[in-house]
Amino acid sequence: MLDGHRILLIIAGGIAAYKCLELIRLLRKAGAAVTPVLTAAGAEFVTPLSVAALAGEPVHDALFDLTAEAEMGHIELSRSADLVVVAPATADLMARLATGGANDLASTLLLATDKRVLLAPAMNVRMWLHPATQRNLATLAADGVLTVGPDEGEMACGEYGPGRMAEPAAILAAIEAAFGGAGPLAGRHALVTSGPTHEPIDPVRYIANRSSGRQGSAIAEALAARGARVTFVTGPASAPAPSGCSVVAVQSAAEMLAAVEAALPADVAVFAAAVADWRVATPSSSKIKKQAGVAAQTLELAENPDILRHVARLPTGRPRLVVGFAAETDDVVANATAKRLRKGCDWLLANDVNPSTGIMGGSENAVTLITGAGAETWPRMSKRATAEALADRIAEALA
Ligand code: C5P
Repeated sequence: MLDGHRILLIIAGGIAAYKCLELIRLLRKAGAAVTPVLTAAGAEFVTPLSVAALAGEPVHDALFDLTAEAEMGHIELSRSADLVVVAPATADLMARLATGGANDLASTLLLATDKRVLLAPAMNVRMWLHPATQRNLATLAADGVLTVGPDEGEMACGEYGPGRMAEPAAILAAIEAAFGGAGPLAGRHALVTSGPTHEPIDPVRYIANRSSGRQGSAIAEALAARGARVTFVTGPASAPAPSGCSVVAVQSAAEMLAAVEAALPADVAVFAAAVADWRVATPSSSKIKKQAGVAAQTLELAENPDILRHVARLPTGRPRLVVGFAAETDDVVANATAKRLRKGCDWLLANDVNPSTGIMGGSENAVTLITGAGAETWPRMSKRATAEALADRIAEALA
């Protein structure tokens, strides 16, 4: 419930703006007060009248409005709420926020606020995947901005992929998670790594592990749902990013280590990423060409930093609970028990990723939790249920 909370809702210009009307309704139903802000482009998609009618409050839409300034100045407006939500967050507004632009009311409020900001991005798939948008997203995550979505699916423009705004119910859940007061992990910071890493061979090729990122995303969401503030450091994964978390997107193991170090301190760190153990010692800056008569290519590999081992063995600033994963294909428990000691982590979740199990890339997992007290095999269940069980155990351990 959001009783007593005020949300400053910025509606930017995208077709998904129509979903905001439903979001306002859900927020009001959950007990929140909504101060609506409509950008000029946003007003092309929804009318100020429908927004104001549903919010039960006037719409703010102009930076230079003497009447509005006399009633409540824009600086005061930016701090009047408990949380700032931008839905839809367009590529343009994200870019302005990432670079500190302030050329309209919405961007000025975002720059002037002292409250946390939650973005619900919505844009065309190419715009979302564009390196500029991903760069801005990483900057915003490092600034502590929260995100929900985007979802993958068919888009209004007819293309398919990530870029659809999260559904209003999911945005509401992310808003509730951002307040986090309710859960057993309220006030805790959780760090989760997820997905594969890509180690460049040349500008078009890379080395990677198989990883969908589904288990890591589910763990981050389960921790956020229990009230934790979650930093989610992810390699290029196919699973949607978790909602209500600060998402830091990286490519290589070296970038992942840097992002993890920047995110510390944390109360708990879960290392679910499938980090490539090796990188190409000297990636080529131009595409390596096939050569007539040369059948084989040799790549010289260098060992990547072991991020889990590094964090688990930090002399100062080590998270209280460090959890690793061990994807094994044989002697799962024996190998994972030895790995827990080698890495220095508190818990290790071992799973059998033999192709016959269908776990890799699938929606289910079968894990054995290895702690200092021994091994505990959990039943095969959905990755979501596995994440919920792990988050419950983490909450118990940190209580
Ligand atoms: O050694 P192995 O790759 O099997 O270890 C798996 C565990 O270690 C996972 O938790 C993974 O996220 C973590 N890891 C890491 N950095 C590496 C390799 C693995 O954090 N370079």
